[in-house]
Amino acid sequence: HRTLRVALLGAGSVGSQVARLLLEHGDDLAERSGASLELSGILVRDLDAPRDVELPRELLTTDAENLIVGADIVIELMGGIEPARTHILTALNSGADVVTGNKALLAAHGAEIFDAADQVGASVSYEAAVAGAIPIIRPLKDSLAGDRIVRIFGIVNGSTNFILDKMDREGLSAEEAQRIATDLGYLEADPTLDLEGYDAAQKAAILASLAFHTEVAMEHVHREGIESITADMIEGARRAGFVIKLLAVCERLPGADGEDESISVRVYPALISRDHPLATVHGGNNAVFVEAEAAGPLMFYGAGAGGVQTASAVLGDVVSAARRHIAGGVGVGESARQSLPTAEIGRI
Ligand code: HSE
Repeated sequence: HRTLRVALLGAGSVGSQVARLLLEHGDDLAERSGASLELSGILVRDLDAPRDVELPRELLTTDAENLIVGADIVIELMGGIEPARTHILTALNSGADVVTGNKALLAAHGAEIFDAADQVGASVSYEAAVAGAIPIIRPLKDSLAGDRIVRIFGIVNGSTNFILDKMDREGLSAEEAQRIATDLGYLEADPTLDLEGYDAAQKAAILASLAFHTEVAMEHVHREGIESITADMIEGARRAGFVIKLLAVCERLPGADGEDESISVRVYPALISRDHPLATVHGGNNAVFVEAEAAGPLMFYGAGAGGVQTASAVLGDVVSAARRHIAGGVGVGESARQSLPTAEIGRI
């Protein structure tokens, strides 16, 4: 087997599980990818920080440049815009394939990153950026590439679903439910990203860009969070036969007479009938419904958050990147997007 050097940037709840699985399942992963995957180092901010998983001390480093240059595959799980953006661009320009779970970065700078990858013939994969463990990026990009997607909707934020579900099923207050979600590590480091719907909006922007072959920026996403949802509102909804869920909806809108088609992307707390399958999405799970012209309705369901669950999606991308790397693959043409107008916010 050829050996590929894998650099990991970030050792938080997902990163530390990725490191553990790479080290524990090295033989299987080598078998499946056709290359031995050597974890060459793990970039951390603080060498002595406590971690979810014990990691070999000699792999930890604070020297990003040295780690990235010389790697064949770079896994970015630091989150945030900088320095993640710079590190990814450095990795691509030094010939590495990139795997990332960074939805904030892709929602804000996806075009720049995909262009950089196309220019050097490298790949950027990001299955872990949306809906945790659920395979949704590759189905949209590959399996449904021959179809025409008309709508995607569902629950794409695990922590707010967990909070709303706890409030609904156990009658907890928002504060109590949020405390438990925090203890389980479901919330982003900055919890307002989850609670105010930014995280779901970033994921919706990524899904809509992919599904509609266009570029949806965050400012095109209508966003409302769950911060004003109270236990009383949930109780009222329950008595009327509904449950409150934070929904993400991405859809094509037909143009009025002679006008071009547009798309609408929005995130908001919605009343869902208790009969609808979305009402049965409990805890930190996510569910994404995709409607395509030929395929009809499809449903994707599973763990939307959590370190080890999301690590599964990261490792799938790593195996693909390794296969592609040893096959001498060329860029996947992600930047080749058409341009579709986004509907004015408030028009829907
Ligand atoms: N905070 C995110 C969520 C983590 O709750 O869904 C997974 O992206």
